[in-house]
Amino acid sequence: MIKYLKTAKLKNKTVLLRVDVNEPIGERGVLEDDFRIRAIIPTIQFLIKQSCKVIIAGHLGRPEGKWDESLTLRPVAQRLAELLTFKFVETEHGLPDYPVNHLIFFRGNITDLKTSAQVQAVPEKDIVFLENLRFYPGEEENSPAFSKTLANLCDVYVNDAFAVSHRDSASIVGITKHRPSYAGLLLDKEIKSLTSVLVKPKSPFVVMIGGIKISEKAKTLEHLGKKADKILLGGGIANMIFLAKGISVGKSNVESEARETAWHLLQNFGDKIILPLDVVVANSNYDKSSIRVCNIHDVKKDEMILDLGPKSILQFATELKKAKTVVWNGPLGLFEEKPFATGTLALAKIVGAVSSGRAYGVVGGGETVDAVRHAHQAEFIDHVSTGGGAMLEFLSGDKLPGIKALE
Ligand code: 3PG
Repeated sequence: MIKYLKTAKLKNKTVLLRVDVNEPIGERGVLEDDFRIRAIIPTIQFLIKQSCKVIIAGHLGRPEGKWDESLTLRPVAQRLAELLTFKFVETEHGLPDYPVNHLIFFRGNITDLKTSAQVQAVPEKDIVFLENLRFYPGEEENSPAFSKTLANLCDVYVNDAFAVSHRDSASIVGITKHRPSYAGLLLDKEIKSLTSVLVKPKSPFVVMIGGIKISEKAKTLEHLGKKADKILLGGGIANMIFLAKGISVGKSNVESEARETAWHLLQNFGDKIILPLDVVVANSNYDKSSIRVCNIHDVKKDEMILDLGPKSILQFATELKKAKTVVWNGPLGLFEEKPFATGTLALAKIVGAVSSGRAYGVVGGGETVDAVRHAHQAEFIDHVSTGGGAMLEFLSGDKLPGIKALE
């Protein structure tokens, strides 16, 4: 049984809170988004209210066990301090004795903190924010020694890092062997919302999947496909199904090695799959003069499919409007290029319009969440997941290692 933070009494405890604040960092270390940072605030406030000392631990990028200044969590810690209206301070050696409501970014080596003695000196209601855990090889290796080092810093462990709970890391799995462990408020919400679409989703259940690689989504499609009434496909995923049907997609990006996967999906769910009727195409340089809308059977050899056409948008919208449950992952075209963002943005608006009332709407995946926010729909959607790979894995029916470890 998972212990949920909501019902825990943790007064005055020192809590190690694992979060996923793996946010995009632009040139010169500028933070480009704060969606995942905002999502952990309720848990932090809950712990502070119980007079806990909160040690926040997270990762950024893939430094592969090496100290890499370009992947420091400093900009994330600064943004969190700003959102909480805490004073940001930074230290490398030991933890200084600051008054309450300080967020101390500890950029030194965790192993130098050794025992919780130094952490004990930090006043309650303060936050210690640790440097990128993936700077330590033991994190991704799930090493027992590193798990112990982390456990030594705290009385209690809280996992609020849904988006990385599909990884077998020391701060996700190993640490739970050493300390009483709880699911944080965000993890709690992710588990409940995603479980609700897997267990008895209200019919009609419409699943909309886009993105580039069919291989990354095949398992999820297989699992959701059995429960869904309609499967709307766009982007590279639809291209692969077109190929399996013998329809030419010109020079569009395809995942040649996944032809068999596409063929299997078509065999199993051909009666539920809805593919675009018309598409926006262009040459491989996306020259303005080459952009046109055509029927899916009229894509020329040198053209790439880059977005849904107007008939397809209408066709997908019609299905979404009938739905009682909607799950969406993956853009339906080359959303990052303005001329090809129309389909994805239009459908983000439809998903927003049918959610929170007519249907239960769940959306996840980095670019999909970007699209939803770009279209100003995030607040209308029942659940906007912080997970990318983790959401797909959860919806494929697998138990995530981080969630299993909490049981
Ligand atoms: C994510 O952004 O999906 C998670 O933080 C996991 O990151 P990873 O794919 O580098 O493990």
